Amino acid sequence: MLALIASFFLLSLSVYGLPAQDILNAPRPRPLVIWHGLGDSYASSGILEFQSMIQDIHPGIFIHSVYIDPDDKEDQRATFYGNVDEQVDLVALQLANVTELEGGFDAIGFSQGGQFLRAYVERYNTPPIYNLITFGSQHMGVADMAVCKPLDLLCRLARNAARAGVYRPWAQEHLVQAQYFRDPAQLPLYLESNRFLTSINNELPATRNATYARQLAALEHLVLVIFAKDKTVIPKESAWFGSYPPSEDGDDTDDEVIVPMRAQPLYQEDWIGLRELDERGRVVLTSCEGEHMQLPTECWKPLVERYVGLPQS
Ligand SMILES: *[C@@H]1O[C@H](CO)[C@@H](O)[C@H](O)[C@H]1NC(C)=O
Ligand SMILES: *[C@@H]1O[C@H](CO)[C@@H](O)[C@H](O)[C@H]1NC(C)=O
Repeated sequence: MLALIASFFLLSLSVYGLPAQDILNAPRPRPLVIWHGLGDSYASSGILEFQSMIQDIHPGIFIHSVYIDPDDKEDQRATFYGNVDEQVDLVALQLANVTELEGGFDAIGFSQGGQFLRAYVERYNTPPIYNLITFGSQHMGVADMAVCKPLDLLCRLARNAARAGVYRPWAQEHLVQAQYFRDPAQLPLYLESNRFLTSINNELPATRNATYARQLAALEHLVLVIFAKDKTVIPKESAWFGSYPPSEDGDDTDDEVIVPMRAQPLYQEDWIGLRELDERGRVVLTSCEGEHMQLPTECWKPLVERYVGLPQS
């Protein structure tokens, strides 16, 4: 009770102690956009809880949770089924339509939501993203499909369908995971068949888009978070733009060897502006200790304190 009275008193002081004009002029925190991951949805209990924890850290912050479908169940389904290019287009319209975001915003992408937000930066970025934080994302794709939880039927159906013909046009148009599947043993087939990841990584010399590189390099920070014990993303280093080296057709990948970000041709020849951003010291490589999307407070809170909710200019 005493504590309550005391805190009410402090609250009153801080509100009434300031002239009204100062309160109105107090800088508001920059808004935040969140794009959830595979199997999650925009209004799931996990996402809502995360939003409220961020609002405790940055009082008054506006948060928009990205959706493909306003129906939560359909939105979850759209993390497995759909055309990612169309989903990014739709989200760009959605974000441009939210008044609170018109001055730009920071963004957090969970898992695949991370590379989808990167696609937004490269292709649209109107309004612009300042800081982009991606948790366990698949920036260099996955070399194998995520292992599903035993009872997750939706995940298993999508996984089986994708494995059956990951590079066939149907999979590339309709199965979300297929659109960032990048098999090091079949790189020529990947380059020929894949639309989404080859595009946002500017891997095809004929269609390389300088706008993508310019817009990614304009980020304030790109914060790439890897989960040290990630067994879902194969290889987990994809979160840091790492991948297995290309291998001859039919060879088994040596899953001990990883080509790190700074050794990737994408980086060395700077196809997407990543090198420019890194050389300005604006690419932050950091890790959380746990498995994929295990988010104890000590893993995300320091990042949210540092890169989210800065005073709006
Ligand atoms: C834009 O916002 C209006 C009003 O909130 C809404 O009716 C409309 O559907 C939105 N459009 C898009 C593309 O989200
Ligand atoms: C490059 O990307 C920008 C932004 O998405 C787009 O407007 C432009 O048409 C693209 N250029 C080419 C040659 O495809």
